[in-house]
Amino acid sequence: RKNSTKSQWIESNFRKTIPSRTVHAHKGSHGRGLIIGGCSEMPGSIAMSTKAALKTGAGLITAGTTEKVISMIAATCPEAMYMNLPEKDGYITSGPALTISNYHAIAIGIGLGRRKDTGDVVAELLNHAPCPLLIDADGIYHLKSHLSLLKQRSMPTIITPHPGEMAMLLGISISDLLSAPFHHTRKLAEAYGVFIILKGKHTIITSPKGRQAVEASGNPGLAKGGTGDVLTGIVLAMMMQEQELFDALCNACFIHGKSADIQVEEKHAYYDLMATDVIDGISNVYRTFP
Ligand code: APR
Ligand code: MG
Repeated sequence: RKNSTKSQWIESNFRKTIPSRTVHAHKGSHGRGLIIGGCSEMPGSIAMSTKAALKTGAGLITAGTTEKVISMIAATCPEAMYMNLPEKDGYITSGPALTISNYHAIAIGIGLGRRKDTGDVVAELLNHAPCPLLIDADGIYHLKSHLSLLKQRSMPTIITPHPGEMAMLLGISISDLLSAPFHHTRKLAEAYGVFIILKGKHTIITSPKGRQAVEASGNPGLAKGGTGDVLTGIVLAMMMQEQELFDALCNACFIHGKSADIQVEEKHAYYDLMATDVIDGISNVYRTFP
């Protein structure tokens, strides 16, 4: 196709685009983010996203989740703030508690569950979130029923599907998707005006205008539950730093993959790498690629 631009996102891209921090910075300069997700069965998901976002450099993160999940995770992430959301049977439901006007970016979906009334929260954000909106995991499942809301958004929307979630959104099989991942991803991004991070061994980042990049860091140690939740937190934090959104998404994938790579080089193996080790390893990335 004529205007398709495809490139590799590598170390030099990261070094060139990652914003430096000024000595006069205060926490507000580094972004106020809201992460909505979690349920009784998946309380750790939002804890990991929240921690990863703070570790990546977000100034302030609020975790919006059920009261029960808050009581389970608050001690593991004392740096975060918490928003108590209405729940039914352990899952978030829509209600008046959701204040969304105060944030530079919002993420929804990790550990959210698939109840229909939980999906109403996703629709509400698509309609009203006055800032960039990141949708992952069960949020992508719910998005399938609200795709038409994407086009009318005036602020950017970003989705971070793995191939199963992407194939579900497109209504095609995973093998069809993977036989032409660039093509299918660009088609959806252009049709709905959405940024897409298609995860996998090689991650493909696509803009609504059809720009595409491949980020190839990372290793099989990442093939373990929770690493996607960590990526979500990293992406949210990057979205709030001073860089172009497309660059921010690529840099987030770079930080995630390189963190895993350095951890495996220095002290872990593919077998024992945990999602929380990927959070800890973010420090190594910033120290290695200043
Ligand atoms: N090489 C490099 N990177 C990999 C590899 C690999 N072999 N395997 C996985 N990864 C990376 C992906 O690129 C992605 O960034 O690990 C991450 C995995 O993300 P997810 O597939 O979302 O995994 P997970 O955290 O388990 O998701 C948790 O959310 O998306 C839903 O269905 C999913 O219920 C599950 C939950
Ligand atoms: Mg996931």
